[in-house]
Amino acid sequence: MTTELEQYAVHYLQQWEERATVRTRQRTRLTAETTAMPMFPDVMMPALKHEALAHWSDAQRQEYSVRMACDFQHAVALLEIDPVTDLCGKLAGQGMGVALPEAVRQVALTIATDEAYHALAAREFVDDAERFMGITLPRAEGGSDPLVNGLTYIRKTVPTELRRTAETMVLCFAENFITGELFGLSKDAASDSPFQVIVREHLVDEGRHQLFFQTLLRHLWAEIDEEVRVELGRLLPAFLDAFLFNPQYFLDSQARILSPMGFDRETSKRIILEAYTTAFGPPPAEKHKRVMAQNSLKLIATAGIGDHPPTREQLVASGWAAA
Ligand SMILES: [Fe+2]
Ligand SMILES: [Fe+2]
Repeated sequence: MTTELEQYAVHYLQQWEERATVRTRQRTRLTAETTAMPMFPDVMMPALKHEALAHWSDAQRQEYSVRMACDFQHAVALLEIDPVTDLCGKLAGQGMGVALPEAVRQVALTIATDEAYHALAAREFVDDAERFMGITLPRAEGGSDPLVNGLTYIRKTVPTELRRTAETMVLCFAENFITGELFGLSKDAASDSPFQVIVREHLVDEGRHQLFFQTLLRHLWAEIDEEVRVELGRLLPAFLDAFLFNPQYFLDSQARILSPMGFDRETSKRIILEAYTTAFGPPPAEKHKRVMAQNSLKLIATAGIGDHPPTREQLVASGWAAA
């Protein structure tokens, strides 16, 4: 019998042939001219309004904006390969602990293909920007990202027989999160700036991925046995803590971008903290109200995870859902 998920996957494969950027498009590259255009969204660079940067020239402001854009692209490139491409390959080859039609496995491979291509385009963006700006950018290290920390926690904690199921859940969260971040940037970036054009090209594929992983997670959560649901629901709060509740990581990564431009690390952290607090106010005390978490909490709701009473209890007790 053909399941709803299988029909969806067959349709997805047709769409991929017609729409995937790796199959159908010439990608946009930075040029010397476009590298000098508005780059990263102003609203996401509150440090530029801080008094410590008031003396900066337009060239320094542009360089900071390019550094922010490149850091984002580089971080995306790392995540798209490990964990996303890696977990897509495992989904195709090893499944996810419940029956998985062949068409769904093929979709996972199309997504691995898209993501490797996105990583290539993102790293190319960084290389082009470095060449045209005449600067060398410090690269984020792979393996230190909060999403990777969340996955590491799951791998350490989950019993072996549930590993594929739990890793696939992490993949669904990862893909929804990355798409959400890209949508936010595309919305806030100056219209038709080279950065916005390149992010929009990436989003052509990510909108399709996000829908697929929402559908897959809903299916996965409905198909697993009740005791597996209880076990995975028990691990969810600590996964969300590692993945989404890491203010120190945010400060460190923002300071890493700012400090090569004339500030030591501690001063950079202080500037970033003050600038973000002035722009957005202090972050809400409740975890479930944090902006960073909204995308994942919506996924928990749409996948039906939040309707599972034992899991809901865990989420409320840990502050990831309102009582
Ligand atoms: Fe991607
Ligand atoms: Fe994706």
